[in-house]
Amino acid sequence: MPEIALTQAPAHVRHGSNMGQPLTRRDGVLKVTGAARYAADHHPPGMLYAVLAVSSIARGGVAFLDVAAAKAHPGVVEVITPANRPPLAQDPDEKTNPFMFRMDVLQSDRVRYAHQPIAVVVARTLEAATEGAALLAPRYETEPARIGLDASKSFVPPGVGVGMPAEVYRGDVEAGLAAAMKRIEATFETAAQYHNAMEPHAIVVAWDGDTLSIDTPSQGMAMAQGRIAGLFGIAPEKIHIRSPFLGGGFGSKGFITGPQVLGIIAAKMVGKPVKLVLRREQMYGPVGHRAPTRQTLRVGADHAGKLTALAHHTKTVSSTFDDFFEPASDISHTLYASPAIASSHEAVRVDTGTPLFMRAPGEATGSIALESAIDEMAQACGLDPLAFRLKNYAEVEPISGKPFSSKALRECYRQGAERFGWERRMLAPRQMRDRDGLLVGWGVGTATFPALMFEAQAKAVLRQDGSGVMEIGAHDMGQGAWTALAQIAADGLGLDIDQVEFRSGTSDLPDGGIAGGSAHTATAGMAIHNAGADAIARLAELATSDQRSPLFGAGNAGVIARGGRLFRRDDESRSESYAEILGCAGLTQIEGQGRSAIDPAAQSSYAMHAHGAVFAEVKVDPELGQMRVTRVVGAFAAGRIINPRLVRSQLHGGMIWGISFALHEHAVVDPRSGRVMNPNLGEYHIPVNADVPSLDAILVEENDPHVNALGIKGVGEIGITGTAGAVANAVWHATGVRVRKFPITIDRLIEA
Ligand code: MOS
Repeated sequence: MPEIALTQAPAHVRHGSNMGQPLTRRDGVLKVTGAARYAADHHPPGMLYAVLAVSSIARGGVAFLDVAAAKAHPGVVEVITPANRPPLAQDPDEKTNPFMFRMDVLQSDRVRYAHQPIAVVVARTLEAATEGAALLAPRYETEPARIGLDASKSFVPPGVGVGMPAEVYRGDVEAGLAAAMKRIEATFETAAQYHNAMEPHAIVVAWDGDTLSIDTPSQGMAMAQGRIAGLFGIAPEKIHIRSPFLGGGFGSKGFITGPQVLGIIAAKMVGKPVKLVLRREQMYGPVGHRAPTRQTLRVGADHAGKLTALAHHTKTVSSTFDDFFEPASDISHTLYASPAIASSHEAVRVDTGTPLFMRAPGEATGSIALESAIDEMAQACGLDPLAFRLKNYAEVEPISGKPFSSKALRECYRQGAERFGWERRMLAPRQMRDRDGLLVGWGVGTATFPALMFEAQAKAVLRQDGSGVMEIGAHDMGQGAWTALAQIAADGLGLDIDQVEFRSGTSDLPDGGIAGGSAHTATAGMAIHNAGADAIARLAELATSDQRSPLFGAGNAGVIARGGRLFRRDDESRSESYAEILGCAGLTQIEGQGRSAIDPAAQSSYAMHAHGAVFAEVKVDPELGQMRVTRVVGAFAAGRIINPRLVRSQLHGGMIWGISFALHEHAVVDPRSGRVMNPNLGEYHIPVNADVPSLDAILVEENDPHVNALGIKGVGEIGITGTAGAVANAVWHATGVRVRKFPITIDRLIEA
């Protein structure tokens, strides 16, 4: 079986000095000084404020809105309800592709979830708009809300995630379980979570005839352009979206949402620029969330501690009017080498806003259940949980049988365990205490995330003065795209990063693809790399065909681009600067274009994933049950590292989310009203500094030449996987108590 080497560098990649450097963020100073302008910072002249009124019931109809009272407010300019909302060019409930999510933009009086927009009030001040919205004092015809995993009859969803099959089988799971020496069956529950980006969804809209200028945070500007174009019946080129900075996205800003479209409608109706910003609690409904799950794992192992069967069944929810099904069972396709694997999903429809992609959608929810179950199996076999994983991790992707970088995963286990000091772990639970008498537990989890790529385009320019420009409508949602992509741009153009003007963050630039699926660096990066290569090739063409050039005739030998010069590959004493080449040719600049897309041949031959292993320590107060994570070490192999500082930061962010998943995050839904009862950052718990211990992210070297020419895999989401399970397993090891409902809170620990 061909294995992917750890050290062999792809020969066809030009190495510059910019990639691999731990540069600080190029936008860092702008952000920490407040100079970075986020969407809601914009105030076009004459701008009015729009505020949403949202439903306080989850199901029923709006019977009455006191529009007259709101309009009587001296600051209020317009009240928009289903009665006067202008028609759209496209039905917002139409769905022609899985990336087109239905939205609530006042198409009827019907309420299908709590916090659904039911009116928009536009006023001269934010205060007046807010007051006007309160004056609407809605009356409802309330119907009982259907909430929770048992709310209605379940069904097998038509697909999970984006078009993945809901049920996948390999081998005979029942036979594998029957033949097993050890069997476990365990059911886990994960809670609903909300994206809670620091920056709420916000939009500032100005119409000029049929031209639309929009400031709004977006993880996919070209897709947003297309959706808005459809809804308003205008050409996408007429829509100019600026999204240079995002205060976090996590999946909730991948698609244009109902509230953003309502901002555009409002601006059109009043004929003036309008700003609409969601209040924190208004984000708990119309802009997506991570669906709750109930997952049952049935696992079998033989006398040697080798898996014989792995069955992973997930029950989840979607809304009553759209389809998104959390693909939690799919994690079991990729990690452990069981001869028989079954993954399946069922769903119920509840009165909720449609769930959506949320950082490691499926992988995060599925991984905490799978890693817990694997731990329980190790325990049943009397084996150390790391030893059990080393026996059972997959050398090839189990479902597809395609090879992937299992050597890298083995290195992650080895380096992580060594750094953590795993060998000193006591096998039995509740055996380790610290000096203060706190119970100490150590847990491990395997991390994985697919190495995805989408399509993107970029344009490169080399200028007469020797500098370069790279243009791509990429998205920096906090991950450092401005910096990492500029590093790729500089190497692509054979320049130092300070000589490259990196233009990004607007829809007027070439489509940078989607910043999602941990795929932005690979997607935008490959377009940039190819655009740079194209510009250099055109420049080389000029030089090698010009008799006056020291590079004349070097066509076959080839040239290397470095430091603003082209060098003859077989004789570096022969070189010429970009400026000289352009000058000789009488050109002021030369352009290159680049695209990126997956390579279907590579996709069909190799499984593409990043891998990792995470080790966590928790301390638990034996009297109070209070849990603290005190140490997390993660070792991750994610292909070529463009910027180790940014990558560590991404991995730390993921690991923090993993801690949060295991111990903190939980949107509590009142089953009577269908409302989230903690829609604020005071009561929706996320880890703060005091909850986050020392984090150590080891970057395991991996050159995977198959994923793309640069060997880039994503790092945005993988940190959550593995970590959540490692923390949960550490709680068990500290206490001997297995809590199967996440987050693991003190009451659940005591009850279990
Ligand atoms: Mo994400 S859930 O790929 O922004």
